[in-house]
Amino acid sequence: ESTLGAAAEQSGRYFGAAVPAGRLSESAYTTILNREFDMITAENEMKMDATEPQQGQFNFSRGDQIANWALQNGKQLRGHTLAWHAQQPGWMQNMEGSQLRQAMLNHVTQVATHYRGKIHSWDVVNEAFADGGSGGRRDSNLQRTGNDWIEAAFRAARAADPGAKLCYNDYNTDGINAKSTGIYNMVRDFKARGVPIDCVGFQSHLGTSFPSSYQANLQRFADLGVDVQITELDVEQGNNQANVYGAVTQACLAVSRCTGITVWGVRDDTSWRDDNPLLFDSSGNKKPAYYAVLDAL
Ligand code: XIL
Repeated sequence: ESTLGAAAEQSGRYFGAAVPAGRLSESAYTTILNREFDMITAENEMKMDATEPQQGQFNFSRGDQIANWALQNGKQLRGHTLAWHAQQPGWMQNMEGSQLRQAMLNHVTQVATHYRGKIHSWDVVNEAFADGGSGGRRDSNLQRTGNDWIEAAFRAARAADPGAKLCYNDYNTDGINAKSTGIYNMVRDFKARGVPIDCVGFQSHLGTSFPSSYQANLQRFADLGVDVQITELDVEQGNNQANVYGAVTQACLAVSRCTGITVWGVRDDTSWRDDNPLLFDSSGNKKPAYYAVLDAL
């Protein structure tokens, strides 16, 4: 196959990219985006600070620009993200307790309702687990509202958009480690108790090495009865970049419930990182990493 999206579709998967609204008016950029990708994530435009800048006053204008571009061009959409400790609007940052819990649930309900029927998968909760060896939750104002805040968010999202797959999404969870095991235990508990969760996202912001337990980690989550998705893939530029991209793609293809891969940007010059971690260089040329992914799909 000649494009990432078409190659992924051969095995029933998707291949996506994160997109900032500001690039949709650049034809050199949208030419690549439209040609290669069949799933779109708003890089920032559906986050809490963007969609509810003042409490109770929702602004979907930039998120809708991305959603409309995707739908007009026949692309699917991942929703990112309904509840997160970061990129909260100022009014929410110092909120605590039951007031914050209520505001968070209202946010989840309003945003998921606005996009109802348009979202393939929502990252309902993002980055709620701590780094390091504890395997526990990250401290945050949301966590301090009570340990059940995550399941409450998932229940609100399901009620608002029953058709979207609901994902938990995090980073440094790409191999089997204390953090991914903490999330694994939460997902197992959610499945056992009927909390609505359909998928787990592995951001996969990677350096120069490929975690050896990557595929086994995806598989153990899949074996719990959830889909898995690579949601924010980017890999440090260096001698090993193409190999790591190829290995991630092979791992996803080897896990039947790994339903798709999203890279966190299109061209290196548009990346949030400064180490040229994407599949296209700043001029829009395909890099060796691009061909490694295409060969593996
Ligand atoms: C990043 C965006 O790419 C940047 O433009 C923004 O300044 C900060 O957020 N994990 C996530 C993404 O879930 O939302 C983050 O995106 C990257 C890390």
